[in-house]
Amino acid sequence: MRAKGVVILGATGSIGRNALDVISRFPRRFRVVALCAGSNAGELAALSRRHRPAVACLSQGNIADLRKGLPRGTRALAGEEGMMEAVCAADTDIVLAAASGVSSIRPVISAAERGKRIALANKELLVMAGKFVTSAARRGGAEILPVDSEHSAVFQAIDGHPRESVRRVILTASGGPFRTCTLARMRTATVGEALGHPTWKMGAKISVDSATLMNKGLEVIEACWLFGFTPDRIDVLIHPRSVVHSMVEFRDGSILAQMGIPDMRIPIAYALSYPSRLPLELPRLPLHRIRDFGFDAPDRKRFPALPLAYAAAEAGGTAPAVLNGANEEAVRAFLAGRIGFTDIVRVVDRVVSGWSEPLAARRLEDVMRANESARRLTREKISRRGRPLPS
Ligand SMILES: NC(=O)c1ccc[n+]([C@@H]2O[C@H](COP(=O)([O-])OP(=O)(O)OC[C@H]3O[C@@H](n4cnc5c(N)ncnc54)[C@H](OP(=O)(O)O)[C@@H]3O)[C@@H](O)[C@H]2O)c1
Repeated sequence: MRAKGVVILGATGSIGRNALDVISRFPRRFRVVALCAGSNAGELAALSRRHRPAVACLSQGNIADLRKGLPRGTRALAGEEGMMEAVCAADTDIVLAAASGVSSIRPVISAAERGKRIALANKELLVMAGKFVTSAARRGGAEILPVDSEHSAVFQAIDGHPRESVRRVILTASGGPFRTCTLARMRTATVGEALGHPTWKMGAKISVDSATLMNKGLEVIEACWLFGFTPDRIDVLIHPRSVVHSMVEFRDGSILAQMGIPDMRIPIAYALSYPSRLPLELPRLPLHRIRDFGFDAPDRKRFPALPLAYAAAEAGGTAPAVLNGANEEAVRAFLAGRIGFTDIVRVVDRVVSGWSEPLAARRLEDVMRANESARRLTREKISRRGRPLPS
């Protein structure tokens, strides 16, 4: 069997590094064709020296710095065209979409149109442009395999069952570091506290999104596109232990859950190797120590990001792109110390509820434009303040 050629978009990130760990354990099954990152030339060059891809691509950074650090045999590429060339190459079988943001949206759509398997971690792509990504995959006959642990769990539980047999999908959420905090306490939350996710080790943006529960809201939208359900068929359940990664409830009353230790290498490996399972030999889930699962309903008052995301999913069109753009800018401002933790969702709410532009998304450009305008508006709102937003 020929080893599958893998391109990693977002190689220097948390998902990218976990994927490289999985791939390097199975050299007969996978080979790294290209590694792509945003601007971190030094790290990308270091990973290239270790994994020897044919191509290393920097989307935004200094290509001269990258070139200096690359091993012989690895070609340096730049920008969106570089990513496009890497993902569309004849020896690319799988594209792991794990770059943050939406910079990789066109390369991922092109890869799907060419029938490459898309292992999808980057939920923003489906949140913003689910219609275009899924239709490209249909045209090209490409599979989209979820990497997000919740969606991987749903995918595993639903596999082989007709959609009509499903009553609802249940996405679990750890509840984040402020699960038991009062609103008053959350107002004074620091960046360090927001980044301290109780169970998963992740990049900064997604850790903050997990703390506001915006991440779960974005996952609801992602699940609508991946599994073809309307938002009212997707529920969220708080589950601080993070052992049940999500569930599917069927019309006959059965509920199928997927469980495991919280380790992203498991869903990454499954998206790469589906339908087979790789012998990862990770620590096992100590089932005998689990006394109860501890499920709880989410508190939508303390975590208003969740109803905001449901409303965007219901509205459809460009609404999720507006939500996503506003959230990215607000999280960035929080991480830079410019706004408080509870201001994140408050600013997003203001942008979304004041949105007056048309919501129709006929072309990819419509969602990209809406996302950009939402970001601009959010930046303006934040820079106009310079002090806490009034309640
Ligand atoms: N971490 C998790 O456990 C997890 C779980 C589920 C889903 N996800 C999703 O997976 C994606 C990545 O998450 P992460 O936690 O791995 O993020 P991360 O650690 O912040 O890494 C982000 C990666 O994206 C690259 N990047 C940033 N801007 C880019 C650009 N303009 N063009 C190309 N690449 C760019 C970064 O490169 P530089 O280093 O050069 O900046 C880095 O490699 C996100 O969409 C997230 O929602 C993550």
